[in-house]
Amino acid sequence: MTISARDLEQLRSSLPLLSVEQLSTTFVSGDWRVAAVRGVSFSIARGETLVLLGESGSGKSVTARSILRLYGPRTELKGRVMLDGIDLVQATQNDVNHLRGSRMGLVSQDPGSALDPVRRVGSQLREVLRVHQPALSRNEAAARAIDLLTLVGLPDPTRAARSYPHELSGGMRQRVVIALAVSCEPDLLIADEPTTALDVTVQAQILELIGELKGRLGMGTLLVTHDVGVARQMADRVAVMYAGRIVEQGAADQVLGDPAHPYTAALLAALPTSGAVRGSLLPIPGRPPQPGELGSGCPFAPRCRFADEACAAEEPALTPVPGRGAAACIRPLTMAGTMAGSRT
Ligand SMILES: Nc1ncnc2c1ncn2[C@@H]1O[C@H](COP(=O)(O)OP(=O)(O)O)[C@@H](O)[C@H]1O
Ligand SMILES: [Mg+2]
Repeated sequence: MTISARDLEQLRSSLPLLSVEQLSTTFVSGDWRVAAVRGVSFSIARGETLVLLGESGSGKSVTARSILRLYGPRTELKGRVMLDGIDLVQATQNDVNHLRGSRMGLVSQDPGSALDPVRRVGSQLREVLRVHQPALSRNEAAARAIDLLTLVGLPDPTRAARSYPHELSGGMRQRVVIALAVSCEPDLLIADEPTTALDVTVQAQILELIGELKGRLGMGTLLVTHDVGVARQMADRVAVMYAGRIVEQGAADQVLGDPAHPYTAALLAALPTSGAVRGSLLPIPGRPPQPGELGSGCPFAPRCRFADEACAAEEPALTPVPGRGAAACIRPLTMAGTMAGSRT
């Protein structure tokens, strides 16, 4: 039996756009090994937003940067990162460089570092366009640059194109970075804390822009944040990271509405909401472990109010929770937010 081109196309569109399988990232320096990401798996469909949520130091950025292969030779990458059938872990650096920009776009926390301070915005956009689409003429690239600055909502795109980055506000600079990231209509947008450096009103505008572009361009989006509010606003699905692993994963309304992992529940309890009484929030005691500090049990146990001796025995695997997503906890919370089988 032969497979027709149409069948192949159907098969392709039914597969996830990005599939990360057992990704591990270890930084190696002499005898030092830092296991920053330990066996992370998730997938993203076309048009879907997965939010990677967790406190600072949990391995979110290392995960995002590993997918983009932004680390040098002193980094061990294990597992598979399949982007539309291509394994980015095995691909040559040349191929990855080409895919970055043409199929994957990156928006990071600091819009300043993504832009060249001594070149006008329009010239930076034109250059990226012509690297990835050499057939574009100068005039076509210039027109396309203006289109992109319009697309990302800059009020006077012609003027923005003539500006140097420092002449623009932080929010406008982040819009320019987003224009660069989507300039080649990538299939996958990776946004790492894209609004953390911006003030609150601008944050909301940038998130709105990312949501809108996702719809218009049909991109899959990996959005990294430590902010539960951002996750609520943006996520279709959520993966919660702790100590280099995913500890809970599922549909956004389930994970953020009825968390199964005590860590997720603690993150949500620490979130200021408009209805919260001052002082009623429960900050999570202690701090997350560094990669070198992991013992044999559940990494969250020392901070978990439900933990007992059994939790110190071994690190729980991410396991499906009936009716919900998956959690890495030996006794996931029930829907009511209490421990299943707890003695109280
Ligand atoms: N290039 C690096 N070399 C060694 N350790 C690193 C490197 N980058 C990150 N780490 C460590 O990996 C852990 C996860 O970092 P990161 O992914 O940046 O966390 P976050 O969730 O805040 O984005 C941290 O303990 C950090 O110190
Ligand atoms: Mg980070």
